[in-house]
Amino acid sequence: MVTRRSVLGGALATAGLPLLAPLAASAGTAHAAGARPSPGTGEARRVAPFTTAMPVPAVLSPASTAGGQDLYELTIRRATAEILPGTATDVLTYDGHFPGPVIHARSGRPVVVVHHNRLDMPVTVHLHGASVPPEGDGNPMDVFGPGASRTYVYPNGQPHASLWFHDHTHHMESEHVYRGLSGSYLLTDDIEQNLPLPTGEYDVPITIRDARFDEHGRLVYAMGDRNRTTILANGRVTPYFEVAARKYRFRLLNGSNLRFFSLRLADGTPLTQIASDGGLLERPVTVPVLTLTPGERADVVVDFSRYPVGTRLVLANSGPGPADRVGQVLRFDVVRTAEDPSDVPAVLRALPAAADLPPATVTRDIVLSMDEDGRPDPRAFLNGQMYDPARIDTTVAFGTSEIWNVTNTNTRTPHNFHMHLVQFRILERGGRPAAPGEAGLKDTVRVSPGETVRLHVTFDGYRGDYLYHCHMLDHSAMGMMATLRVR
Ligand code: C2O
Ligand code: CU
Ligand code: CU
Repeated sequence: MVTRRSVLGGALATAGLPLLAPLAASAGTAHAAGARPSPGTGEARRVAPFTTAMPVPAVLSPASTAGGQDLYELTIRRATAEILPGTATDVLTYDGHFPGPVIHARSGRPVVVVHHNRLDMPVTVHLHGASVPPEGDGNPMDVFGPGASRTYVYPNGQPHASLWFHDHTHHMESEHVYRGLSGSYLLTDDIEQNLPLPTGEYDVPITIRDARFDEHGRLVYAMGDRNRTTILANGRVTPYFEVAARKYRFRLLNGSNLRFFSLRLADGTPLTQIASDGGLLERPVTVPVLTLTPGERADVVVDFSRYPVGTRLVLANSGPGPADRVGQVLRFDVVRTAEDPSDVPAVLRALPAAADLPPATVTRDIVLSMDEDGRPDPRAFLNGQMYDPARIDTTVAFGTSEIWNVTNTNTRTPHNFHMHLVQFRILERGGRPAAPGEAGLKDTVRVSPGETVRLHVTFDGYRGDYLYHCHMLDHSAMGMMATLRVR
């Protein structure tokens, strides 16, 4: 049988396409390049928390702004990054950046990104959360090989949102993203720009994720690995970040493959959440704990003016794993005072109430499940089937709205649910109205064991084939993914 591992050493290492091998999850350690040394069996020396400054990710500049659009050229290539102090770690990058870079975009103004593939394997690039024609969506089979280039056109015909882009190559997306192939795509519009929210250096994207390193400081990738207990914020291990005593907007992204984060300020001050996946909430929400599952985004405003200069404030996490390893994400160090003309208005944007959404014409049941009997090669399913790129699982009519009831039938394993192309609304979680922090526009939603979420989805973007899947990327690579056709 063809496993993900045998594929890695064979067809995937060449430009030989298409990749129609049946998907089977390899529980063993698979390396992105067959020629690389296999990872050590040990563990990296632990990095003391708060010894490294958290970088702000690099913002890319367009190669051209002519013709009413922004043109970017990026090279997908290997690089090394100093993730562990004093150690060079091999990573996969967009243009050499780890953490991944940032693209700024504006609604109504197209962005064109030309990617040059300088890896030794095929790739495809997906803009998560975006409404994009199917040929630009980065379908797992729509790859471009070593030495090839691919142009992605993003119309940006949707409102502001903190989006992100990442690899989506069949069989390989989970490992590629784990090794570094993701970046931020911050789309803005007049609605957002006209608000007095913190901007410029006070508006900071922070990607949080976990990782596992061997004794040589190499990233270890194994499917379903529960030992990714090193927490990175913008690509550094539990760093500190120096702030002024004023308001900041932090655009948080959970860039992990599997880990759920439950974030809180260690002094008990609640977070002010202003946005979710699809942009601003109607109103700011005060949340004591912010849960972010893989692929989810939330923007929060933290007002450090309540703290004297000299304060050190930890962004703490609770969740699976030893608290002494995964319980702290980063530390804010208040080092100076600053003027603060920014404000968080009581109303951020207008969104239709659930009752005013277009009436749904179809109701579907979506079931997420995977083997949880401890077998070495667990399979993962969407409505009882493993992903098959040759199969259309669901066909919907363009322009219509539907209700999707998404249920996790596992008893122990959490999942989440992501749809390409659309921003949906969460009508109910477990029979109750969605919490205010997830009542705005969403493209990824947590689905706890035994739980059902009820979604309202409108398919008015484009016609074509798109994915829906669990965004715990190890699970989607194990089969929990399906294809939607809008026609
Ligand atoms: Cu982040 Cu298929 O998506
Ligand atoms: Cu997506
Ligand atoms: Cu899952």
